[in-house]
Amino acid sequence: MMMMMEWKWYLWFIRMAVMLLVLERCSWCTTDACLEHERIALLHLKPFFNYGNQLQSWVEVKGSDCCKWERVECNTTTRRLIQLSLNSTKWEDNMEYVMDNRNLNAWYLNASMFLPFEELKRLYLSGNVIGGSLENEDGTQLRLTNLEVLDLSGNLFRNNTISFLQGLSSLKSLTLYGNDL
Ligand SMILES: *[C@@H]1O[C@H](CO)[C@@H](O)[C@H](O)[C@H]1NC(C)=O
Ligand SMILES: *[C@@H]1O[C@H](CO)[C@@H](O)[C@H](O)[C@H]1NC(C)=O
Ligand SMILES: *[C@@H]1O[C@H](CO)[C@@H](O)[C@H](O)[C@H]1NC(C)=O
Ligand SMILES: *[C@@H]1O[C@H](CO)[C@@H](O)[C@H](O)[C@H]1NC(C)=O
Repeated sequence: MMMMMEWKWYLWFIRMAVMLLVLERCSWCTTDACLEHERIALLHLKPFFNYGNQLQSWVEVKGSDCCKWERVECNTTTRRLIQLSLNSTKWEDNMEYVMDNRNLNAWYLNASMFLPFEELKRLYLSGNVIGGSLENEDGTQLRLTNLEVLDLSGNLFRNNTISFLQGLSSLKSLTLYGNDL
C-alpha cells in the first residue's frame, strides 16, 4: 500500500513537472516576439545595409524580438513588420566615408528579399546608392500588396532599372527624386 502511494506521488510529481515545462515553453513561444521567418529575412538583408555597423541590434540569436530592432516597426497585434527604415545607411550618414573612397558605384538590390514582409506598409530605402534590382527568374517584382509608402530617393535608379516596381497594388506614395531617371 505504501509503495503504491509513493508511486502515485511520483507520477503526480512528474505530471506537474511536465505541465510546468509545457506552460513555460508556451509562455515563451507566445511572447511578443516577431515571426521567425521575418527575423531571418532581416538578417539576410543586414549585410547590404549595415554600413558603419549601424544595425547592431540585428543579432543572430534565435528568439530575439526583431520588432525591437532599430529601424524596424511591427504591428503590435500581429507582430509582423509594418515599417522598415533602411534609409541613409550609406549615402547621407556616411557621406564622408563615401566621398573619401570615391566609392559611388551602384549596387543591385535583390527585391525578392523583401517578399517575406507581407504586411509591410512603409519601406524607406533612400540614400543607399542602389542602381536597380537583381534579375530573378520570377521577374524580380517587389509585389508587396500592402505597401503604401515607398521611398527610393537619392539612389542611382535609371529608367530601365525601375521596372521591378510592379504589383504594388496599395501604393499611395512613391518618392523617386535624386535618381538618374
Ligand atoms: C494591426 O493588425 C490588425 C489586424 O490585422 C489591424 O486591425 C490593425 O489595424 C493593425 N494596426 C496597424 C497599426 O497597422
Ligand atoms: C528614415 O526615414 C524616416 C521617414 O522619412 C525618418 O523618420 C527617419 O528619420 C529616417 N532615418 C534616417 C536615419 O535618415
Ligand atoms: C534573391 O533572393 C531570393 C530570396 O532570398 C533568392 O531565392 C534568389 O536566388 C535571389 N536572387 C539572386 C539573383 O541573387
Ligand atoms: C528617362 O525617361 C524620361 C521620361 O520618359 C526621359 O525624358 C529621359 O530622357 C529618359 N532618360 C534616359 C537616360 O533615357
